[in-house]
Amino acid sequence: MKHQTFTHHDILSVEQFSRSDLSVIMERTDDMKRLVETKGGNDSLKGKIMTALFYEPSSRTFGSFIASMQRLGGGIIPIQGVSYSSVSKGESLPDTVRTFENYSDVIVLRHPEVGSAKIAAEFAQKPVINAGDGIGEHPTQALLDFYTITQHFPRISGLTITMVGDMYNGRTIHSLAKLLSLFEGVALNFISPDLLRVSPSLLTLLKERKTPVAEYENIEGTLGETDVLYVTRVQKERFSDLAMYEKLKHRYIVTPKMLFKMKKKSIIMHPFPRVGEITMDVDLDPRAVYISEQMRNGLYVRMALLSLILRKEQ
Ligand code: NCD
Repeated sequence: MKHQTFTHHDILSVEQFSRSDLSVIMERTDDMKRLVETKGGNDSLKGKIMTALFYEPSSRTFGSFIASMQRLGGGIIPIQGVSYSSVSKGESLPDTVRTFENYSDVIVLRHPEVGSAKIAAEFAQKPVINAGDGIGEHPTQALLDFYTITQHFPRISGLTITMVGDMYNGRTIHSLAKLLSLFEGVALNFISPDLLRVSPSLLTLLKERKTPVAEYENIEGTLGETDVLYVTRVQKERFSDLAMYEKLKHRYIVTPKMLFKMKKKSIIMHPFPRVGEITMDVDLDPRAVYISEQMRNGLYVRMALLSLILRKEQ
């Protein structure tokens, strides 16, 4: 997508974005935020239909894509859980995607397999948006995470971002780390149990882009230098050994006591769902932005993407 118009383009991986693409998306996101705050929405996507085809559970991604389309006056085919579609009869992904593109203008796909969005895009004529492909990527989440960070730190370069939890299976981690590596001097700390360390291939990409990276098993030592603490859950559905999941799931729990060590201007993020990684009393800390800002920004960013992809006049 480098320096091109977004019209009718797929969104498959953050690797397709340049910094100037990011500025275009962030600007449009600002417009959408203003629109929702002043008028609630408009009818700029009237006559357009979005299929939301979700093979895996979702609350925020699904809900905000649906709301985005509706706030812009468009229609939806919401398929949350494919057990009631022909997928349960054994239909293949290419056939399902080619079915729904007959009825809609864009397909938002969440699927358990890495590379599924790319395969869907190869078969579909209509644009495909990756809403999470297994342990691969979650590009729209990275964009809303990035937008949330810029609201607090307009200059991204020089920040220290500490990511905690499941570095191996967490697709939000993969997409956000790649996106941040477009900015010089962003330092990334990855904190995880040894078994859930970030993959060698992602480390190689970050090294190529000269992003300073450090890996730790313990969280405490990094808190003082951290600008953004990005917490994630251990991804239960990716474990074949559930006893191992039980052992690892609460390895890190962020509590108000830990926040004393953090800068006044730092922020705490989480893509959600949380299953105990951040205690509820942390929600009261003004640095906790996961509910008050991050979730809501998902609406604005997805409105921006749909409008960039589906509107003719840019
Ligand atoms: C994330 C996902 O699906 O990868 N959720 C989301 O979209 N906000 C994170 C997760 O499930 O842990």
